[in-house]
Amino acid sequence: MRRKMVAGNWKMNGTRTSVAELIGSLRVEELPSDVDVVVLPSSIHLAQVLSDLQGGTIAVGAQDCSTEPGFGAFTGEESATQLRDLGCAWVLVGHSERRSLFAESDQVVCRKFSSAQVNGLKPILCVGETLEERQLGKTLDAVSQQLNSVLDVVGVDAFESAVVAYEPVWAIGSGLTATPGQAQEVHAAIRAVVAQRNPRIAGGLRILYGGSVKSENAVELFAQADVDGGLIGGASLKANEFGAICRAA
Ligand code: G3P
Repeated sequence: MRRKMVAGNWKMNGTRTSVAELIGSLRVEELPSDVDVVVLPSSIHLAQVLSDLQGGTIAVGAQDCSTEPGFGAFTGEESATQLRDLGCAWVLVGHSERRSLFAESDQVVCRKFSSAQVNGLKPILCVGETLEERQLGKTLDAVSQQLNSVLDVVGVDAFESAVVAYEPVWAIGSGLTATPGQAQEVHAAIRAVVAQRNPRIAGGLRILYGGSVKSENAVELFAQADVDGGLIGGASLKANEFGAICRAA
């Protein structure tokens, strides 16, 4: 049985004051003990959030990491080694905004995945199709290609300590949520791709849905057989809404 997981991707939001207020409100939310809850703040706020959540049940991760795993002359980069040293447990790789706005190729995503794993960070690998790909009936091709581009390099064993997040690009920040049936179809396909290499690892792999998840739609989404929780954007910036989504898992 896979434990449910809900991660909040805060994206480029927050000040020290608003982050302190959000964490303070999250700490008094009734969060289910059988759900892994993760928050992913801007890296500039990681130390503050880790300190404020120390000793609690909410895990902390980064929204990105360098392709370079350790140290060196890579101005502006933050390595998985540094993030792990800070106390992070998770890191997002391959978010569609990194792919589209910052030209991250499958190869770059794969290097970041490896860099995270080598340094003990658990990657959350984001995959998802564009609206055009969906309209052309190429959703499963697109998602499988993104997933296989990492599997082919790191191997399926690496996915024992990873999570996959399916985020249809057209649903991110749009209010257009995938239907539970659409989500289940793609999640099942993702699991099948991994199962072709190792059925046991596929069975234990957690696959999160992301893209306009709200407390109103979370229950039905999370009830799908292959939906193991959610990767939440905008709704994660409101403690009560994020808490309600966690309770829906
Ligand atoms: O990483 C999660 C994010 O892309 C989803 O954003 O605002 O549609 O929940 P949102």
